[in-house]
Amino acid sequence: MNAAPTRHGPQAQGHDGSSVRSMFDRIAPTYDTLNHLLSAGVDNFWRTIVARELPDPSARVLDLCAGTLDLGVAVQKEHPGAQVICADFAVEMLRRGQHKLPTAGLTGADAMNLPFKDESFDAAVCGFGVRNVSDLAGCFREVRRCLKPGGVFVVLEFFRPERAVTKFFHNVYNRQVLPTVGAAISGDKGAYQYLADSMERFFSLAEAQELLRENGYTDVRGYDLFFGVASVLRGTRS
Ligand SMILES: C[S@@+](CC[C@H](N)C(=O)[O-])C[C@H]1O[C@@H](n2cnc3c(N)ncnc32)[C@H](O)[C@@H]1O
Repeated sequence: MNAAPTRHGPQAQGHDGSSVRSMFDRIAPTYDTLNHLLSAGVDNFWRTIVARELPDPSARVLDLCAGTLDLGVAVQKEHPGAQVICADFAVEMLRRGQHKLPTAGLTGADAMNLPFKDESFDAAVCGFGVRNVSDLAGCFREVRRCLKPGGVFVVLEFFRPERAVTKFFHNVYNRQVLPTVGAAISGDKGAYQYLADSMERFFSLAEAQELLRENGYTDVRGYDLFFGVASVLRGTRS
């Protein structure tokens, strides 16, 4: 099966990296409140599942598209000895989350051009970030470059749903709940419309698994959380 790279990414919705970055910088002040409200707090439970996918010990862990650091916090909690490095191109998101994990290294960086040495991480995670990158294959290769051989990459994401029940749930949530509640609390209707639309245009979990394999990962597997509302994708750097 060939993944279809033209379907996904912010460019499919008329955005580029810089407009996505300024959008996240804009919604940073209300991001956490909305996130936990819209997911009824389930999002942090999902992040714990991702953190538990990492081998223990994992000495140096990259949290890619780290936002306000909630996934980094989950990783640190599950792996207290790890050094967590959080990277995101929207520096305002990192700044807003900094207090949650003062020990983390923070880096303003694009997921397709990371300022880290080859083979400098034991593991990497990315929570709800890959849907926003304009070249997912390039991002997978860039993370691979930064991982040591055998290093694990775990992604948490809202992939395009394939099951009827999940499609129904996504439709209601994306067309009604997310844009309306997002606009009311953040005051930024466009940002939350973008986030809703981006789920429908993104790769399915099966397509993303294939893309990960094609870009240098083995032992690739994926599984659904809450009937496929969110999913976990995991691969090992070959
Ligand atoms: C929906 S938030 C998720 C934040 C956090 N990981 C979480 O679990 O809540 C997506 C984050 O990805 C970042 N992001 C999107 N595209 C990026 C890119 N190309 N390079 C770096 N960060 C990016 C955004 O700035 C934003 O902070």
